[in-house]
Amino acid sequence: MKHRSIFLVLLNSSVVLAIFVIFFVLLNAPIKFPFMASPENSFKFDKAPAPRGTQFSLLIGVLTRPNNFDRRHFLRLVYSIQFLPVAEVEVKFVFCSVTNREQKILLALEILRFNDIIILNCTENMNSGKTYTYFSSLPVILPRRFDYIMKADDDVYIRLPRLVSSLQPLPRQDLYYGFVLPCASMNPHEGYMSGMGFVLSWDLVEWIASSEIPKNDTFGPEDKLVGRWLNTGNKARNRFTGKPAMYDYPGTNGRCSHDLVPDTVAVHRLKRWDQWLHVLEFFNVTKELNHSKLYNL
Ligand SMILES: *[C@@H]1O[C@H](CO)[C@@H](O)[C@H](O)[C@H]1NC(C)=O
Ligand SMILES: *[C@@H]1O[C@H](CO)[C@@H](O)[C@H](O)[C@H]1NC(C)=O
Ligand SMILES: *[C@@H]1O[C@H](CO)[C@@H](O)[C@H](O)[C@H]1NC(C)=O
Ligand SMILES: *[C@@H]1O[C@H](CO)[C@@H](O)[C@H](O)[C@H]1NC(C)=O
Repeated sequence: MKHRSIFLVLLNSSVVLAIFVIFFVLLNAPIKFPFMASPENSFKFDKAPAPRGTQFSLLIGVLTRPNNFDRRHFLRLVYSIQFLPVAEVEVKFVFCSVTNREQKILLALEILRFNDIIILNCTENMNSGKTYTYFSSLPVILPRRFDYIMKADDDVYIRLPRLVSSLQPLPRQDLYYGFVLPCASMNPHEGYMSGMGFVLSWDLVEWIASSEIPKNDTFGPEDKLVGRWLNTGNKARNRFTGKPAMYDYPGTNGRCSHDLVPDTVAVHRLKRWDQWLHVLEFFNVTKELNHSKLYNL
């Protein structure tokens, strides 16, 4: 299998390698990638038409860096094994312009295999306009519209079925959904949604792309800026906080953190492998593995 050997060459950390081999070898074969675009047919989950009962579409852009190969491959696994009956969800990894030759080649390989990468016209930087470039570029570069666009960090674990079911009853227009800051606040109409992962309806993404307000206000903490644009433009009348189902990993961020809970939509600040493993175990992610003579886990 060509893609497996490519992966193996790319990985250098032995811990990651071990986890990766386990997940990939065991899980790749029998499980479909419901929302990974295929190279011939991008922006469809599968070659089959969207499942019946599809009620909305969501693009999740994970803003990350080209060098974070390990995290990206891990997130591909984590997201590709989640089954989603009622929504079309695509996960893509979002970078600024790539100039390094090695990165260009490796990313080209990933695109050939997964076609889940978006490279924006910007310079990689935390607080200097990547989020603005992301939202404002999408209406121009995407071949189709989505009902919702999400921006997510690469240190957040999103439980896609829970996210989808929490979005399902919400308005498809003028919507701003996420983890409202400050930490203790439960009022989504004050403050702004944390950059861990927030959702905008498509009309707001188009507004960001065309309005002068965000264009003139792109430097500073990216999540805070988005809230300010929407407030200044008198936009996003529909605001919802995912609390308490969205939170920071226990003990990592004061009142933004709490214990893992069964109803979780997203856990943020997963920086270390032990934290990721704890989360995967807590949510029984690998419990569905069937017995087989081929392995004994
Ligand atoms: C990329 O951005 C730069 C600076 O904003 C601009 O001058 C250039 O034309 C853009 N390139 C493309 C291909 O859009
Ligand atoms: C852009 O922002 C600056 C500083 O906040 C302000 O002085 C200027 O009037 C703004 N321009 C537009 C077109 O809004
Ligand atoms: C995980 O499985 C255990 C044992 O079956 C169960 O008690 C627990 O509620 C499950 N956890 C979640 C988050 O579903
Ligand atoms: C496990 O076995 C059941 C029953 O045969 C099957 O429906 C299910 O798809 C299997 N799960 C996996 C992950 O292969």
